[in-house]
Amino acid sequence: MGDPLSAMSTIIDGAQVASGVRDDLGEAIETLADHGVSPGLATVLVGDDPASETYVNMKQRDCEEVGVNGVHVDLDGDASPAELYETIEELNTDPEIHGYLVQDPVPEQIEYGEVIRRISPEKDVDGFHPENVARLVARDARFKPCTPHGIQKLFEAYDIDTEGADVTIVGRSSIVGKPMANLLMQKSVDGNATVTVCHSRTTDLAEKTRRADIVIAACGVTELIDGSMLSVGTTVIDVGISRVEADTEKGYELVGDVDFESASEKASAITPVPGGVGPMTRAMLLYNTVMAASESEGVPVELP
Ligand code: GUN
Repeated sequence: MGDPLSAMSTIIDGAQVASGVRDDLGEAIETLADHGVSPGLATVLVGDDPASETYVNMKQRDCEEVGVNGVHVDLDGDASPAELYETIEELNTDPEIHGYLVQDPVPEQIEYGEVIRRISPEKDVDGFHPENVARLVARDARFKPCTPHGIQKLFEAYDIDTEGADVTIVGRSSIVGKPMANLLMQKSVDGNATVTVCHSRTTDLAEKTRRADIVIAACGVTELIDGSMLSVGTTVIDVGISRVEADTEKGYELVGDVDFESASEKASAITPVPGGVGPMTRAMLLYNTVMAASESEGVPVELP
């Protein structure tokens, strides 16, 4: 007998929603092709962090699948800041590259903030450049950062209404927590939420997660959030994806910030890891690339 207060969770299938986004982008890519435009996305990786290598490989594979011109630039782990800046300058002026990103983290001799400031804001498909952050906050977003945007798409796909919802975000990163909070508090149909942002100095985290209608875990602490910290009927979005040593073929398994088993006994809907948020992040990167190509080439397209 299960707990009478437990809910049957809907597993939010990010891979499926992402596939739909990619299909829809295919039409925009055809429109661009009709005007002789092939959207170009470059990824830059400094060093050989295995997780980062996997991520950029997946991003490049996505490009191939949808017909985006993917270019990858690999720099040695001991590359100087000047070498990276030179690559950035080349990408800023390359007419075939409409968007690019420098995979984070970078080695310690390089300051990521300085890297971001050098990326042309028009090509900053991550949406990390200060100009793009300011535009997002001012409700005039050029590029919505990919993970928060992907989560909004998941809400849309699963009819999860954020209007008036209490949303607790665990994590205050520039990549996820902060832009997510901003988007969800905005006066818009996919916002209008009351947002609480928690972090490593938050006291009584469980009190903040228990009172939420939606919990977004994005702190990189494996299985920090468990079922005891959730109320029945909560929507749980797990952004975490840590490699944990395990007796598997690869020698590791991917673990989120949420203890899926206990959380799914309380949640009305929950994202798995992998297969939840990750595929959406990548789909929205393609979305931003297509948008960048459309804007810079002056070819209007319909975006999903
Ligand atoms: N590292 C982890 N996530 C991201 C991302 O969305 N963009 C970049 N550039 N690096 C990352």
